[in-house]
Amino acid sequence: MSRIAYVNGRYLRHAEAGVHIEDRGYQFSDGIYEVCGVRDGHLMDENYHLERLQRSLGELRIAMPMALGALRHVMREVIRRNGISFGMVYMQVTRGVAKRDHPFPVPSVRPSLVITAKRLSLAKIMLSVEKGVGVITMPDQRWARRDIKSVSLLANILAKQAAREAGAYEAWLVDADGFITEGSSTNAWIVDARGRVITRALSADILPGVTRRVLLEAAAREGIEIIERPFTVEEARTAREAFISASTAIITPVVRVDGLAIGNGEPGSVTLRLRGAYDAVAQIS
Ligand code: PDD
Repeated sequence: MSRIAYVNGRYLRHAEAGVHIEDRGYQFSDGIYEVCGVRDGHLMDENYHLERLQRSLGELRIAMPMALGALRHVMREVIRRNGISFGMVYMQVTRGVAKRDHPFPVPSVRPSLVITAKRLSLAKIMLSVEKGVGVITMPDQRWARRDIKSVSLLANILAKQAAREAGAYEAWLVDADGFITEGSSTNAWIVDARGRVITRALSADILPGVTRRVLLEAAAREGIEIIERPFTVEEARTAREAFISASTAIITPVVRVDGLAIGNGEPGSVTLRLRGAYDAVAQIS
């Protein structure tokens, strides 16, 4: 089955799909995106993703590219046309196409919308869940509005590449005060000696992860205590457990921070309990 992409009202062969060279997303990173997990051909936590998409657009004063109902339909159509059972839907909205000039175009132009879907290997994800992964820590060099899911990911990709070159899976980014903000494409969590789960509170410093949001609901149901506060690199290195969260993989245990083993060097029990609890709370539609 050849891949199909949705681009501004048309379903195109993925390999030939493209946008204009003066799309402001291409020239200025003037746009936002969403990644929504797909399980058994259904969307995971669609409402939360669409809520965040609208918030990101609102913060950048980009109009919704189409009505919400139509967007829900196209997401499903892209899943169907690509025959995805387990994977993800990627949505990108940019301010649109205009002659290159920094201010917003006047009169405004139609936002560009691209939706693609990708198959993922559940087996590969489960291998990371079973074995756990390593993270490195490094300075957070991103801009000051990380709460917006902007396509401008230069600092994120440099951090991820540094992690990979260091033999780690993820980079945990550290603010000027020595506290971890989040991972380059994941939210960051630790578990303290008393079994309490710690993650940074929402602010402009981090992306409000949908998985983070659902895990907080899951923890409340399970009676797992959560403390929303920043934690230091030292706390992370000496934590009993650690993990990262993001759509599709949901929770991946972290078993090494900067090369040092976390706990006994294996995925922790609270982490795995929370991973199991996610399914009871997740919305599948
Ligand atoms: N990344 N923090 C950052 C910087 C992210 O890019 C992501 C998601 C998250 C987790 O958010 P969520 O739980 O809503 O997936 C946290 C996506 C998956 C990506 O860029 O591919």
